[in-house]
Amino acid sequence: MRILIIGGGGFVGQKLAHALAARGSLREQPVAHLALADIVEPDTVEAGFSVTTHILDIAERGQVDAIIAGDWDVIYHLAAVVSAQAEADFVAGMRTNFFGTFNILEACRTRIGTPVLVYASSVASFSTDVPQPIQDWTATTPQTSYGTQKAIGELLLNDYSRRGFIDGRGVRLPTVVVRPGKPNAAASSFFSSIIREPLQGEPAMCPVDVEQEVWLASPRVTVENLVRVAEVDGDAIGPMRNFSLPGMTTTVKAMLAALEAVAGENVVGLVDHERNPTIEKIVQGWSSQLVTDKADELGLIRDESFERIIEEFIANDMKPVET
Ligand SMILES: NC(=O)c1ccc[n+]([C@@H]2O[C@H](COP(=O)([O-])OP(=O)(O)OC[C@H]3O[C@@H](n4cnc5c(N)ncnc54)[C@H](O)[C@@H]3O)[C@@H](O)[C@H]2O)c1
Repeated sequence: MRILIIGGGGFVGQKLAHALAARGSLREQPVAHLALADIVEPDTVEAGFSVTTHILDIAERGQVDAIIAGDWDVIYHLAAVVSAQAEADFVAGMRTNFFGTFNILEACRTRIGTPVLVYASSVASFSTDVPQPIQDWTATTPQTSYGTQKAIGELLLNDYSRRGFIDGRGVRLPTVVVRPGKPNAAASSFFSSIIREPLQGEPAMCPVDVEQEVWLASPRVTVENLVRVAEVDGDAIGPMRNFSLPGMTTTVKAMLAALEAVAGENVVGLVDHERNPTIEKIVQGWSSQLVTDKADELGLIRDESFERIIEEFIANDMKPVET
């Protein structure tokens, strides 16, 4: 089993690489080789099989052809210019999210063999302008450039699968919380900051109303589902190759209450509130009510509670508080 993770230097890519290293197998075969490719050289992972790291700009067709020509059984496409950045810089978003995705699909089409291709789409490909809750088959009516670029990728993934060029699986990730490290350029970044920073003894800013709803999942559940999505039989997915990953609907208020329950009122007191209309507009356009029938049929998992998500962050990802 040879696996390529494009976007392998990012948050989800690194978590997935560590999970694959711990498992040692995928699709009932031992992993022989894992390659991590990203526009910035990814950190490697310790594993019982060989791991290589590669610098790759997916907007450069020649680079994409060269790496996809490897004999990959499973390719994860996780590379993206994320939501707020794609909204601020239209060309950058189109370059990576549209042309980059197209390059990957085209490189798969022209190689020998039919790899399993797992594509990270987003709940941002939906909007609140259609009847809620969102079903797997609800029309994608994105309200951002990022969501539009993700939705284009979904359509192409379907057709490249139908034509037999790939065995594609497009999964709409919920907002993944708690993201470790520093804030990123996603409009959803604050959903992690308001938990991560206070737990690490630092102030955080909440830019939306506390009643704002969000559809989220933990890193553990998201990565386990990315593994399971690669393992299922393509025929079991059916002709509609894109579906939502399980998440939970909660509010900022409930998230902060969970933080207080886990870590106390002094910690939650580090969260300040100042509304940011740009962030608020993007986040309000995302649906927080989704039905995940396909994922449930395929045996994907979901989080039990937001308290547990916080506890997992404390156990696995929190940097020590400086004293
Ligand atoms: N994390 C979330 O909450 C979330 C939610 C919905 C969807 N997603 C999607 O899941 C995927 C992974 O998300 P993440 O949180 O790990 O994001 P991330 O930003 O941490 O990782 C994305 C990676 O893509 C790389 N990249 C950007 N442009 C590139 C290019 N031209 N060529 C090669 N690599 C490039 C970046 O360097 C980065 O390492 C993304 O496609 C994202 O859109 C994530």
